[in-house]
Amino acid sequence: MKDLTRTGQRLRIRRSRPDDADATFRWFADPLVTEFLPLAGERILPMENVIAFLAQVSRDDEPRLNVAIELYDGRLIGTASLREIVPEESAEISIVLGERDAWGQGYGREAMQLVLREAFDELKLKSVWLIVREENTRGVRLFSELGFVLEETMHAAVVIRDVPRAKLRMRLSAEAWRLRTSNLPARA
Ligand SMILES: CC(C)(COP(=O)(O)OP(=O)(O)OC[C@H]1O[C@@H](n2cnc3c(N)ncnc32)[C@H](O)[C@@H]1OP(=O)(O)O)[C@@H](O)C(=O)NCCC(=O)NCCS
Repeated sequence: MKDLTRTGQRLRIRRSRPDDADATFRWFADPLVTEFLPLAGERILPMENVIAFLAQVSRDDEPRLNVAIELYDGRLIGTASLREIVPEESAEISIVLGERDAWGQGYGREAMQLVLREAFDELKLKSVWLIVREENTRGVRLFSELGFVLEETMHAAVVIRDVPRAKLRMRLSAEAWRLRTSNLPARA
């Protein structure tokens, strides 16, 4: 994957780097951050896995796009990715704001918009999809507002602390994205 930097109003996305490891480790060791992720607030991602992952996604020949989300003062607040990329077809998108004090301020929306521009304008994908736990109301609301539509409800897709939980598959098409971005003013 080539180099990339995209700038928004308050933040930028850039390719992930090995020196993002300390922040990344801290985020994936925070049970509130990982509550709705596969780690489910129960496990942490070992530092050696973080280092190996960042080394891999920093490689020029890496097919996935993994980015850091950085405020303009240089503070790293999270990460996002496009993976399972089928050229000119589709990809899975993901986002994690690892700094909890950055939640609820529209940074997730702004970062998603930058990654979606990369997906649709640069990679020319036809659609982007994601998996989100049903009770992740903040995430579901953000994705719905960006135009993602529910494609499938996977009931009891995972059991967390003995309780079966549903996962949703949501998808955004390039047409829907273009329609929204041409009709709606960008929100801060
Ligand atoms: C999910 C996540 C990316 C959202 O990013 P964010 O910057 O906090 O979201 P935004 O500030 O852009 O807000 C998105 C919407 O959620 C709303 N929201 C904020 N807090 C909320 C809450 N507790 N419950 C429901 N909605 C909430 C916001 O008001 C906003 O809607 P609005 O524009 O109608 O007001 C971020 O919270 C995060 O990374 N969480 C942990 C990891 C995670 O769950 N990732 C997604 C996995 S699929």
